[in-house]
Amino acid sequence: MTAVVNNSPDLASRMINRILAIKPLSNIAKHQARQMMINRAQTLGIDWNQQVKDLSARNWSEDFQRIRNPQLTYPDYYLTSFHAYDDGNLNWQAAFEQEPAAYTVHAKIWHDTGAKGDPKLRQTYHDILTTKISTAPRKILDVGCGVGLSTFALQKIYPQAEITGLDLSPHFLSVAQYNSRKRHQSINWVHGAAESTGFTPGTFDLASIFLLCHELPQSATRQILAEMRRIVRPGGYLGIMDMNPGSEIYKKMPTYVKTLLKSTEPYLDEYFSLDIEQAIINAGFKVLIIAPNSPRHRTIVAEAV
Ligand SMILES: C[S@@+](CC[C@H](N)C(=O)[O-])C[C@H]1O[C@@H](n2cnc3c(N)ncnc32)[C@H](O)[C@@H]1O
Repeated sequence: MTAVVNNSPDLASRMINRILAIKPLSNIAKHQARQMMINRAQTLGIDWNQQVKDLSARNWSEDFQRIRNPQLTYPDYYLTSFHAYDDGNLNWQAAFEQEPAAYTVHAKIWHDTGAKGDPKLRQTYHDILTTKISTAPRKILDVGCGVGLSTFALQKIYPQAEITGLDLSPHFLSVAQYNSRKRHQSINWVHGAAESTGFTPGTFDLASIFLLCHELPQSATRQILAEMRRIVRPGGYLGIMDMNPGSEIYKKMPTYVKTLLKSTEPYLDEYFSLDIEQAIINAGFKVLIIAPNSPRHRTIVAEAV
């Protein structure tokens, strides 16, 4: 079963929590953290400012209207601040910055990869996934696809598959749609919630969830797993790649650092204390493997029974 990390707040964490509760101070902390990340990107050769400038120059209203599902009700947990953006994932700044931010954050995973850390993270997940899936899936759902980084990576390893990217953010999906047009790739982008997708039962051979679960309260993860079981055909697969609470890095991380992380990842403690293996089994999957694919990430592959 998944290792459960001790999250009891020590003195430093309690102090940080108090500081972060003071809005102007928390805004300064967020601004500083953001600026550090942008500076780091530039050092790594990731042209954060230029990428954002190029995307900001477009008129997105048509893409947005096309992709947005006006009937969709957002779950409450989603309507909070994530990654230092006050309105979380529902804004253009977050959408324009998702790709350079992923490259910057993942550059640190291995000491020798630099900006290639992000593609390596995806590759190490796919290496495990493909060893456990004997027949190439024909219909794939990328759950929480964001601006499409995980979707395009899946399409590269399964070029014959029909791929759908699902996300709650119409801003992210607008950028994803634009990216796929630029690459001449045909992907079906859907604005919806992973806990109630509306797809017909048994539609998919594989549902892949890349870096979503750490952004969810436990109740949402359980609902999403149940929904995945409903829409993945019997004998089909579930792949999950996310932070590994059992890794030495997180086990040794001081609680106050976790508290700081929590200021940008509000459900991190719920994620760290979830027994995800049991939750996957309870949803009706057989777990085939849980294995580290980076010093701080793990891959889970399960089969629908
Ligand atoms: C950290 S991003 C990962 C994006 C992408 N998979 C990647 O690898 O770059 C998590 C994504 O999950 C989406 N998300 C969060 N909760 C969701 C939900 N309940 N249903 C669908 N998407 C969700 C967010 O909008 C965000 O785009």
